[in-house]
Amino acid sequence: MVRAIIAPSILASDFTKLGCECHNVINSGADWLHIDIMDGHFVPNMSLGQPVVESLRKVIGKYNDPDTKLPRAFFDCHMMVSEPERWVEDFARIGCDQFTFHYEATKDPVALVKLIKKHGMKAACSVKPGTPVDVLYELAPSLDMALVMTVEPGFGGQKFMADMMSKVKDLRTRFPNLNIQVDGGLGKQNVELAAEAGANVIVAGTSVFRAHDPADVIGFMKTKVND
Ligand code: DX5
Ligand code: ZN
Repeated sequence: MVRAIIAPSILASDFTKLGCECHNVINSGADWLHIDIMDGHFVPNMSLGQPVVESLRKVIGKYNDPDTKLPRAFFDCHMMVSEPERWVEDFARIGCDQFTFHYEATKDPVALVKLIKKHGMKAACSVKPGTPVDVLYELAPSLDMALVMTVEPGFGGQKFMADMMSKVKDLRTRFPNLNIQVDGGLGKQNVELAAEAGANVIVAGTSVFRAHDPADVIGFMKTKVND
């Protein structure tokens, strides 16, 4: 049985007070922090890199560290970069918990999964909207999570692509115990569609960080996934 995980995407936060913004969503019930890394090459936009993630780790404890006095969160790094292999070692060192690469960005996904795990991180693989989901069938048993993009990667605040739910359904039928994440345009208005299709890890940027009451949005989404 998979559990409901809500992962606010910090791309939609106010970067001038990133630490406080993250503490706020953690205190509002977020399980993970979704950290979007863009290189201006794999996607037509840039976001943030290692120095920011490393700084954030100093004010947010590891999810599995019961002794920390800090608010804790799992760092879910979504690597929208070409040559993801280049960044595995660095991201492990700075405290990334899960490294999600794009299937389209690597020549050897099997070797990359092994490399990520060798560095002590969980390994996940993502497909863009135009990539058929069957490319993940062979890889899935070695993955900790599959990410089905519900927007073209590169920008926050885009419209949710409901037609991606057939990919989620297909994966859920084949892999009942796999974490399946959806990312892009999610909020209270469509989380039910994603949950019904079988997604259990919900990324939400704009709908959480720009909400008047993030705890209400996070709580609502968690309930829908658990229903
Ligand atoms: C898009 C990113 C998403 C995005 C989600 O490239 O991968 O994580 O920030 O933001 P919203 O929820 O605003 O679509
Ligand atoms: Zn993302």
